[in-house]
Amino acid sequence: MTATVPTVALGDGLSVSKIGFGGMALSHVYGGTDPDAALRTLHHAVDQGVTFIDTADVYGKPRDGSTGPAGTNEELIAKLLADRRDEITIATKFGITGAVGVPGAKAARGDRDYVRAACEASLRRLGTDVIDLYYLHRRQLDIAIEETVGAMAELVAEGKVRHLGLSEVTADELRAAARVHPIAAVQSEWSLWSRDVEARVVPAAREVGAGFVPYSPLGRGFLTGAMTPEKIAAGMLREEPRFVEHFAANQRVVELLREIGRENGATAAQMALAWLWAQGEALGLAVVPIPGTRSPERVTENAAALRVSLSPAQKARLDSAADLVEGDRNLTFMPRDWISADRE
Ligand SMILES: NC(=O)c1ccc[n+]([C@@H]2O[C@H](COP(=O)([O-])OP(=O)(O)OC[C@H]3O[C@@H](n4cnc5c(N)ncnc54)[C@H](OP(=O)(O)O)[C@@H]3O)[C@@H](O)[C@H]2O)c1
Repeated sequence: MTATVPTVALGDGLSVSKIGFGGMALSHVYGGTDPDAALRTLHHAVDQGVTFIDTADVYGKPRDGSTGPAGTNEELIAKLLADRRDEITIATKFGITGAVGVPGAKAARGDRDYVRAACEASLRRLGTDVIDLYYLHRRQLDIAIEETVGAMAELVAEGKVRHLGLSEVTADELRAAARVHPIAAVQSEWSLWSRDVEARVVPAAREVGAGFVPYSPLGRGFLTGAMTPEKIAAGMLREEPRFVEHFAANQRVVELLREIGRENGATAAQMALAWLWAQGEALGLAVVPIPGTRSPERVTENAAALRVSLSPAQKARLDSAADLVEGDRNLTFMPRDWISADRE
């Protein structure tokens, strides 16, 4: 029995649940996971009405000896799709050539042959005959975006993909892509502590009629207040300045989220999500955050953020939190030019 989460129109006629589920958190990235528990969390999300499920070919633990995209997160999600394909809007991505943590992972490819092969591989792993939303994850900078999006458009024409999306593109890249094929969604990092997209990419998304899917909407967990220095030290964020040397300074943002949360009977995580919807409304475009979690209870908590509203004064206090943030959003082990703002 599916509970009701409202749906919202992104672009190109694609309607999705107003909050999605970020599948990457079910892989090894932020901590260990058990596949059976992960599948239970996915079913719980769909039961709650969180039916917009986000994955990518690179997510998941690579198999021994494998150097290409791991594909194991897609294979996990295939188990959900096997039972409930009709209830779900499945989004996946291609363009990063290797699994996270494997040599070659930091290269991007967007030539036509690669686009077609990546799509076939994702369809096979997901066990479906059509991908609802297919994103370019990172662009190959020495190939024109028109070429990559042209190849993606062929997949739409062939019925393998329903809608196209782009991740971490600049405003100009987005405009160029939208001249080739309508773009349903831009997926880039956007949260209370990562607001660089608001300068140029968000206005361009509004202009071309694309919706926005903020990734890492909880600041990779930091904005929830649940991250301690010990937890950070045990995971992949242990060398990231924002999470480590600026931990104490950035706790001021968490404190503000908690304070406004107390006023609304809500958690810091719920405030971070409520701010994103309010900011989308202020900037005039559809916003669908995709928080990830291994925990069914947190899926419920995050979806319940839809019932919290911020007063204009609370929204303004949260807007000003950007001034408290120290350290930039780039992960030091990722190529610098994978952040769209750094290419503009
Ligand atoms: N396009 C891209 O390049 C890109 C990049 C990064 C991510 N993404 C997508 O965006 C999704 C979300 O981003 P993300 O996973 O990086 O970060 P996020 O959603 O901002 O945060 C995820 C972390 O927050 C914790 N969490 C979630 N809900 C919580 C709550 N209510 N209270 C306390 N902690 C909570 C989770 O831990 P627990 O598991 O312990 O709850 C998890 O470690 C990903 O899963 C992926 O699908 C896309």
